[in-house]
Amino acid sequence: MKTNNPIGIFDSGVGGTSIWKEIHTLMPWEDTIYLSDSKNAPYGYKCQDEIKALSIKNTEKLISLGCKIIVVACNTATTNAIELLRATYQIPIIGIEPAIKPAALQSKTGKIGILATKGTLRSSLFSKTSELFTQNIEVTEIVGEGLVSLIENGKKNSAEMTELLTAYLRQMVEANIDYLVLGCSHYPYLIPQIKKILPEGIIIIDSGEAVALQTKTILANKNLLENKKRIPSLYFYSNSRLDVLKEILAPYKNKSEFSYLDF
Ligand code: DGL
Repeated sequence: MKTNNPIGIFDSGVGGTSIWKEIHTLMPWEDTIYLSDSKNAPYGYKCQDEIKALSIKNTEKLISLGCKIIVVACNTATTNAIELLRATYQIPIIGIEPAIKPAALQSKTGKIGILATKGTLRSSLFSKTSELFTQNIEVTEIVGEGLVSLIENGKKNSAEMTELLTAYLRQMVEANIDYLVLGCSHYPYLIPQIKKILPEGIIIIDSGEAVALQTKTILANKNLLENKKRIPSLYFYSNSRLDVLKEILAPYKNKSEFSYLDF
């Protein structure tokens, strides 16, 4: 493996591009390959075996494309399949999990909220982390039912979205939370709307930056970090809604390659 092999990233759809952005900002000379498995989105309602099988399929595709590290830019896939992926492949694999720890440590009200998929909230990995860091904290867990599908269908700014978010966030506010953890990589795209709904003072956190930092650390430890200033190849593949992927990455369209890929 060489420093100029790409970083491979996958998600159930377009949401993981929120993690890709952090990775590209932190490591601008790195080639990247992003797989948007929109054909199978959302993962959040699938059983663990299905999520594992999809994660294996995506990982194998990225390995076959020459990736030097895999970033599972999906909380649902991480919490349900990362142990299997790490046990199966030699390649370094980075995952994303809801940022419960910083929220619990910094909360002043002792009450935090987590918005995530059903698949993440029911996973044993999430339960373990939650138990570890929220001993004296009240946690309000809400499944963001319908949010991923709206984003995947290009409706992130719709009235339907506002209605769903208002209902979910009302429960958080009633619970008197001071930290809201976004436990799904699609949700950072909803931050402008979430801010309009939440009262001032509630802090929103996600794990994107931490994942990018961890990816950089692991690449550096393995002498696989690309330090040479160069124009990177940025490939984005979708197996279904390429239009939505292009739209969400519109600010990067001049330096990126978008294609349909059957994976
Ligand atoms: N973006 C994903 C996550 O972080 C998955 C959402 C889904 O497909 O349900 O959980």
